[in-house]
Amino acid sequence: MLLNGARMIPNDELERIRGDFPILKNGVGGKPIVYFDNACMSLRPRQVVQAMNEYYEEYPACAGRSIHKLGNKVTEKVAEARSTVAKFLGAKKDEEIIFTRNTTEGINLVSRSLRLSKGDAVITSDREHNSNLLPWQLLSRRSGVEHKIIYSTDNMEFDLEGFEEMMNNKVKLVSLVHTSNLDGYTLPAGEIVKIAHEHNALVMLDGAQSAPHRPVDVRKLNADFFALSGHKMLGPSGIGVLYGRYELLEKMEPFMIGGDTVQNSTYDSHVLLKPPEKFEAGLQNYAGDIGIGEAARYIERVGKEKIERHENELNKFISEGLLQMGGSIVGPKQVELRGGIVSFNIDGLNFHDIAIMLDESNIMVRSGQHCVHSWFNAHKIPGCVRASLYLYNTKEEAEMFLNAMAEIAKLR
Ligand code: ALA
Repeated sequence: MLLNGARMIPNDELERIRGDFPILKNGVGGKPIVYFDNACMSLRPRQVVQAMNEYYEEYPACAGRSIHKLGNKVTEKVAEARSTVAKFLGAKKDEEIIFTRNTTEGINLVSRSLRLSKGDAVITSDREHNSNLLPWQLLSRRSGVEHKIIYSTDNMEFDLEGFEEMMNNKVKLVSLVHTSNLDGYTLPAGEIVKIAHEHNALVMLDGAQSAPHRPVDVRKLNADFFALSGHKMLGPSGIGVLYGRYELLEKMEPFMIGGDTVQNSTYDSHVLLKPPEKFEAGLQNYAGDIGIGEAARYIERVGKEKIERHENELNKFISEGLLQMGGSIVGPKQVELRGGIVSFNIDGLNFHDIAIMLDESNIMVRSGQHCVHSWFNAHKIPGCVRASLYLYNTKEEAEMFLNAMAEIAKLR
């Protein structure tokens, strides 16, 4: 299959991008790497590492507390990062951006702070990451909130009709994976939000796999909450973001409070600060905040549409190669619906064995159930291999991957 050059990041730009990632030049064990495990964790460009180092070396103090020069500088830098992330997501105000540890924390925050109770219902899909499944199971067990699942169509697409039929006035929240880490499918979020809002339900999107790879504008989507992680979008690990509509955040109570969340306190009372401060308890991951801001800037510079097209073009090439060698692919048949992720099995071979054999050639993928155990259990599939792409991956890497896979497939 020929790649469509117009959909790819041009070679000279790709070279420059790759130059920002030292590990792509240095390799591992003296050999180059092909890094196809981006849905788990992306590589980080030197700009992100430098911005974080600057914090540690030049102004390693607290934000929002101390009024000395270093403290003021951190406060300024964190505010700048918040503003960058707000623009990155299309938020109306910077105050709608809460820094968390990761997507999981953002979802847990909403599950605890929305104060849902018996008689209310929450809908999730049949292919949620554990981070958007377990919090609702817990809520259901503790508070009697009903947890309902919307099942995908036979082609693994979102069932809009079925969803509309499930909606009623008990449903208070619809919490869905925007782009699936299982198969790369992105659901029709705009239409889902419209239907949910017609029934007065809120919508939260798990954007861990969408925000790093495609244009996301929370205002255009009209989403109420949107959670993401830094480590999947060229940023550091241990930092994430929860976007929430300001009017909602204002009404919600934080689930964790303490230092930096209050205006004032007495021995028996306290007055909370406004969002986002009331949700950011205790001393924060300032280097992380600054790092995720830098990562968002990096993605904006390259261009989200360009990244999306590039990954999908590589995915077409890889998917076709895998199908030709008899592989079975998880997710919708049309590769256009699977973004930059290709999850697959080769009959007669174990998925972990495939990943280990690929690793012998420094080709790094993930194998197993990818934290979506529930989907694999429901389909009685023990697991799969997943190659997940990003902006620095090349056609040559895709060819190396397919060549290695062709050799592995001969072992059947
Ligand atoms: N969510 C991460 C993955 O899919 C951990 O690999």
